[in-house]
Amino acid sequence: MLKMSQNASSEAVFQQAADFLNEKKIVIFPTETVYGLGGDAQSDEAIAAIYRVKGRPKHNPLIVHIENIALAARYGVITPHALRLASVFWPGPLTLVVERAPGTSLSALVSAGGNTVALRSPRHPAAQSLLAAFGKGIAAPSANRSGRVSPTTAAHVETEFSPAPLEIAMLLDGGPCEVGIESTVVDCAGDAPAILRPGSITQEMIEAALCMTLSPASNILSSTLKSPGLLESHYAPSLPVRLNALDAEAGEALLAFGPVPASLSPAFNLSESGNLEEAASNLFAALRRLDRAPNTAIAVMPIPLNGIGIAINDRLQRAAAKKI
Ligand code: TXA
Ligand code: MG
Repeated sequence: MLKMSQNASSEAVFQQAADFLNEKKIVIFPTETVYGLGGDAQSDEAIAAIYRVKGRPKHNPLIVHIENIALAARYGVITPHALRLASVFWPGPLTLVVERAPGTSLSALVSAGGNTVALRSPRHPAAQSLLAAFGKGIAAPSANRSGRVSPTTAAHVETEFSPAPLEIAMLLDGGPCEVGIESTVVDCAGDAPAILRPGSITQEMIEAALCMTLSPASNILSSTLKSPGLLESHYAPSLPVRLNALDAEAGEALLAFGPVPASLSPAFNLSESGNLEEAASNLFAALRRLDRAPNTAIAVMPIPLNGIGIAINDRLQRAAAKKI
């Protein structure tokens, strides 16, 4: 178990965390989406430690968290589309992929050697305080081991890293994450903005902010939903996950959504009232809770494909995909 869990509230704690980042150590911190495994985005040493601790493939780039748009502009080329989206949605659960700024101090490793960088300004007060204390970009993937379910509480993080690797200096406990699924990722590096990962900031919200329609091809979900077998397993519990279940079969734990007859006896209900935001915030905790004996599988009831339901279905498709 991590011994360094700290209540993310006092100035001294954030200063201590910033000192650890300056020493190229890892600090795990809360955001409004999921917990992040943070390191100094300018340091090859710190970024290499993140990849090592997470067991993340080297070709998968990291999101750089920044306090505000001014800092973002030191790291990336903020196009008019990117500026518009950042102005409307930052700080918040939106990540923008842009070209790396010429001569930027960012480690090449955060971009996995490519010429773009993903930038996000999180709105969780503890993340904002940490970014203010550090004053530079913090690279942070979700604080789970690669391929596993993202953590939405400090307790989830502790079960991911137990015993804690030496590289992790601190875990800031900021309570349960409000949104509960990872940020929407929008590619603003090309001519036409494109959604790379759906999240709580929906396609409709992005289209409204940009006063334009995103082309259907920009929505990865349309293709992945057609061929879930092609999906790389991700966000995955150890038990098999069966989607669009109307009832549980022998050994299955039923993960329900919306009002259900008592005869179905669900193991957990993501939202009894059928509220998609509530379901998103409960999703990863529920998958973790049901992922154990005596259950032999998790059966998930249908979740509507609208609003944040698109992102929930995206994560569930990946959780159910065959492990390769
Ligand atoms: O909500 C979130 O985004 C959380 C919190 C901690 O901020 N972070 C998170 O990071 O989910 P991670 O590493 O688990 O997922 C980042 C996603 C990956 O799918 C990665 O491939 C993509 O963003 N990404 C990062 N940099 C990219 C780039 N330069 N171009 C395209 N995709 C990129
Ligand atoms: Mg992740």
